[in-house]
Amino acid sequence: MPVTPVLTGRWNTPESWTLAVYESTDGYQALRQALELGPDDIIKIVKDSGLRGRGGAGFPTGMKWSFIPQGDDRPHYLVINADEGEPGTCKDAPLMTADPHSLVEGIIIAAYAVRAHRAFIYLRGELVHCGRRLRAAVAEAYRAGYLGRDILGSGFDLDLVVHSGAGAYICGEETALLDSLEGRRGQPRLRPPFPATHGLYASPTVVNNVETIATVPFVIRRGVEWFRSMGRERSPGPKIYSLSGHVTRPGQYEAPMGTTLAELLELAGGIRGGRRLKAWTPGGSSTPMLTADHLDVPLDFEGVVEAGSLLGTAAIMIMDETVDMLKVVRRLTQFYAHESCGKCTPCREGTTWMVQILSRLERGQGDAEDVDTLVDACDNIFGRAFCALADGATSPIVSGIKFFRDEFVPATPTGATGPTATDRVAGT
Ligand code: NAI
Repeated sequence: MPVTPVLTGRWNTPESWTLAVYESTDGYQALRQALELGPDDIIKIVKDSGLRGRGGAGFPTGMKWSFIPQGDDRPHYLVINADEGEPGTCKDAPLMTADPHSLVEGIIIAAYAVRAHRAFIYLRGELVHCGRRLRAAVAEAYRAGYLGRDILGSGFDLDLVVHSGAGAYICGEETALLDSLEGRRGQPRLRPPFPATHGLYASPTVVNNVETIATVPFVIRRGVEWFRSMGRERSPGPKIYSLSGHVTRPGQYEAPMGTTLAELLELAGGIRGGRRLKAWTPGGSSTPMLTADHLDVPLDFEGVVEAGSLLGTAAIMIMDETVDMLKVVRRLTQFYAHESCGKCTPCREGTTWMVQILSRLERGQGDAEDVDTLVDACDNIFGRAFCALADGATSPIVSGIKFFRDEFVPATPTGATGPTATDRVAGT
């Protein structure tokens, strides 16, 4: 299987985060090329490349950029969603740490394309080390004339601000992120209108993920054909797959879109301790779990959907045969209950309620009816909340019950956690 060190290509170079190393490895050449072209030419190249958003949803990037209305007098903004917080998702942090200039260069090109003169990186608060790297890279880029006024003599101006959040998962939801950036409590807004027309300060705003934007310089520099030579027709290009959990060598594996878990496991040394695979998430905890029957599913936006899940962030959490599925599902549901912003009832009440039921089952005090109630609750929560958080919360539960129902229904009758009072009296 071809491995594609594109986005990860510089990660093992000493001092890869410095401008000197970046420039010595083709860095900022794509920007020079882009500034020779018109903004619309860049949007066309990105559209033709078929690049799709790497934040989880896979929305076509060039199409998103083309939604920015032209000709009204509101300013345009570019906002980078670096609030990586999904359990299992850990690709943007290493990218920003090892190669922050690829993100900065992508931002300048994207801002030029959508005619934005102000860009923000909204960084997850806990990623303090990434913040240091990013701020240092931004300062270097200003000093070198890649940011600020009249970039490389092109007449294009851009200011870039790195803003750290305060550690709320909900602020990774794009509209909650915008609220937070505006200085308010981060809670999702109803969409439509989408940020493309009414985003930051009610102005046209492109919100893109870190990996998506860091891919852009490569698309500009190496071209559409090169990009499309990797991956699959509707999901082209390279992708960072994050392997965590019970795998011999956890980490980031960059490979063409559509690579299978079987292939990735070969690279990662297989399941730890020679055990058997039990379950895995294709793209973080919000994506329904799959099993050992799905090892050959092409991991791209279409292939995973056909298998009954979603590619999400390609954060593959591996669980071996020793894992207690009920415990996993209860723990993940607790995460969603804790992170629910409380704005809408299905999410606020639903996630808390589901934790209570799962905890009861885990204590051995539930029954089969509780399992049905969980499925019913999920059916009533899915698609009825303000944002995708609640939908995501239903994924571990529904998929866990679908594949491992036996582990949810206690073997002992309702309320029985061990010998009953009658047993004791009878001396059994
Ligand atoms: P979505 O499909 O609603 O939107 C995706 C993007 O396309 C957004 O930027 C949206 O503004 C834009 N868009 C969609 N329809 C549009 C239209 N008609 N006009 C203009 N723009 C449009 O997905 P959403 O709710 O933004 O994100 C859900 C995804 O986030 C999930 O797939 C999940 O995997 C991922 N996720 C990622 C996390 C992370 O840490 N990276 C955390 C949690 C979820």
